[in-house]
Amino acid sequence: HTRVLTGITTSGTPHLGNYVGAIRPAIAASRAAGVESFYFLADYHSLIKAQDPARTQRSTLEIAAAWLACGLEPDKVWFYRQSDIPEIPELTWLLTCVAGKGILNRAHAYKAAVDRNRAEGEDDDAGVSAGLFMYPVLMAADILIFNAHKVPVGRDQVQHIEMARDFGQRFNHIYGQDFFMLPEAAVDDNVATLPGLDGRKMSKSYDNTIPMFASRNELKKLIAGILTDSRAPGEPKDIEGSALFQIYQAFASAQDTAAFAQAFADGIGWGDAKQQLFERIDAEVTPLREKYEALMARPAEIEAILRDGAARLRAQHATPTLQRLREAVGLRDLS
Ligand code: TYM
Repeated sequence: HTRVLTGITTSGTPHLGNYVGAIRPAIAASRAAGVESFYFLADYHSLIKAQDPARTQRSTLEIAAAWLACGLEPDKVWFYRQSDIPEIPELTWLLTCVAGKGILNRAHAYKAAVDRNRAEGEDDDAGVSAGLFMYPVLMAADILIFNAHKVPVGRDQVQHIEMARDFGQRFNHIYGQDFFMLPEAAVDDNVATLPGLDGRKMSKSYDNTIPMFASRNELKKLIAGILTDSRAPGEPKDIEGSALFQIYQAFASAQDTAAFAQAFADGIGWGDAKQQLFERIDAEVTPLREKYEALMARPAEIEAILRDGAARLRAQHATPTLQRLREAVGLRDLS
């Protein structure tokens, strides 16, 4: 059995980057034979950025509904909310005590905050919470607690998986046993990073996202707003560095992508290109949107699915695993 695990932070509305980089590949992977999947809502992680209780709750519901609408089968995969598993923060502490501070200093999200502070002449750590600094340790606990082998993520998350390997390895070494399997990142090279409306990585923090379940009208408007150069119809267009082209590629077969590249070379007008992109995305998302809306109308059902997943997962895996780890490090047996 290969164990595949991935999570999405509940800090906003699910967007096409989450879909292409995490949800779509994860659901495809979960259907392969011999795979045991773990998909979860990273609500503890959301507290680092979004300290707005209503938003965290809303986002949790939306992201859960997105997974379900995309075909996640809660009786075939482990589907849960991170904060329903108290063993995860418990493991976070055990890992914190073996994690090198120097490694955390190099984490991208933390370094970006320090760089911003330096650029503004502030102290390195001004406004940086210990939570942001510790983010990779919590994420390592998410992965290591279930001995996941493969972690499908976008390229932005690869460094965190490497850190999880490092912390797991140190723990194994210090306590003299292979308690943890060392995980590997699985990045789909075709769609490593989906750009957003402005050409930067599609991200809640850049406010450049296309929500997964935008209405058709909204979707059309957002696509019309994708940044392009000012070349007129008839002038050849570059596919290199074109957000429009890259998003198209994430929604089309290799053959259709080649035809779209040819249309660029032949000087397709931006209006036409945007219309074609809209039709692509709309065709893929419309059936999912209908399911999503039906699910969002029944939040109690979503809640019941999440609670049931977490309860079974604790009983079968999290609680016994933590018991073993507590014993390994010399803590009292709680059972
Ligand atoms: P998050 O919530 O930022 O993103 C969730 C998933 O979506 C992918 N993603 C993208 N992929 C391609 N293009 C984009 N523009 C794009 N934007 C987001 C991310 O790579 C990710 O796969 N720390 C994680 C959540 C997490 C997690 C974990 C993931 C917590 N614990 C354990 C895996 C394993 C995060 O903030 O992802």
